[in-house]
Amino acid sequence: MEVAASAKTGGDWAERTYEAMAPVYDDFTAHHDYEGWLADLLTALELRGLKGRRLLDVGCGTGKSFMPMLPRGWEVTGCDISPAMLGLAREKAGEAVRLEVADMLELPRFGEFDLVWALDDAINYLLSPEELERALAGMRANLAPGGLLLFDVNELLAYRTFFAETVVVERGGRRLIWNGLARPDVAPGSICESRLEVVRESEDTEPGEAPEHTHRQRHFTEAEVLVALERAGLECLDVYGIYTDGILKQPLDHTIHTKAIYIARSTA
Ligand SMILES: C[S@@+](CC[C@H](N)C(=O)[O-])C[C@H]1O[C@@H](n2cnc3c(N)ncnc32)[C@H](O)[C@@H]1O
Repeated sequence: MEVAASAKTGGDWAERTYEAMAPVYDDFTAHHDYEGWLADLLTALELRGLKGRRLLDVGCGTGKSFMPMLPRGWEVTGCDISPAMLGLAREKAGEAVRLEVADMLELPRFGEFDLVWALDDAINYLLSPEELERALAGMRANLAPGGLLLFDVNELLAYRTFFAETVVVERGGRRLIWNGLARPDVAPGSICESRLEVVRESEDTEPGEAPEHTHRQRHFTEAEVLVALERAGLECLDVYGIYTDGILKQPLDHTIHTKAIYIARSTA
């Protein structure tokens, strides 16, 4: 197992991971239906009185989690710890979006936003409840009065399945091999790893430009998330569960849902 001696925080690990993964990220996640997912998230947010059109997308990656917001008239700021991921986001969005390199553990105040979100496990790259609280406090500081925060976290089931399995995605002349290293009975609150290997499918295709790298994520229990929200000055409004179909369900059921979605607002 690769141990990055200089990696002190979840941010350090995530930067290393996504600088390596960036060239294959969109291929690996090509089956994710962001249009449908985001439409459902917006419906849930509207039930909580979402107003305005200013979005801060924390851990925006290559832009998949904000691109569907542009035709809806949203003014978007995206930030991520990986310059390589942001470079790909810039190619998609052009100058229509403000993009900043930032660690969510040291999130600057970019402005006032009606909606701050962090999607598709970005939060799970934080490696302790203390890091979670710090990141949430930074997100809260970017909320406009009445603004809403939404994020998802992987449920234990995701670590006991996806992070414990080998998954192969073949796309663009490359085979992307996800080698989950977790045990199928991994305990709540564990840190789990998976290695992603990129293999050329034939000698005719270009060499894969993404080196093998490790994803390191922490599972956060619902209780840990609720405590971190409270300590960060946020009130939890809703908790949903989703399975791989992306449809939001209540109540969250740890035995069948692979992700939890939290919606919160500032208590101040
Ligand atoms: C699974 S990707 C999700 C990207 C995008 N939100 C999406 O839905 O496609 C997780 C992203 O979170 C970013 N990330 C992880 N930890 C971070 C941190 N501490 N600060 C900022 N970005 C971080 C990674 O660089 C990566 O781009």
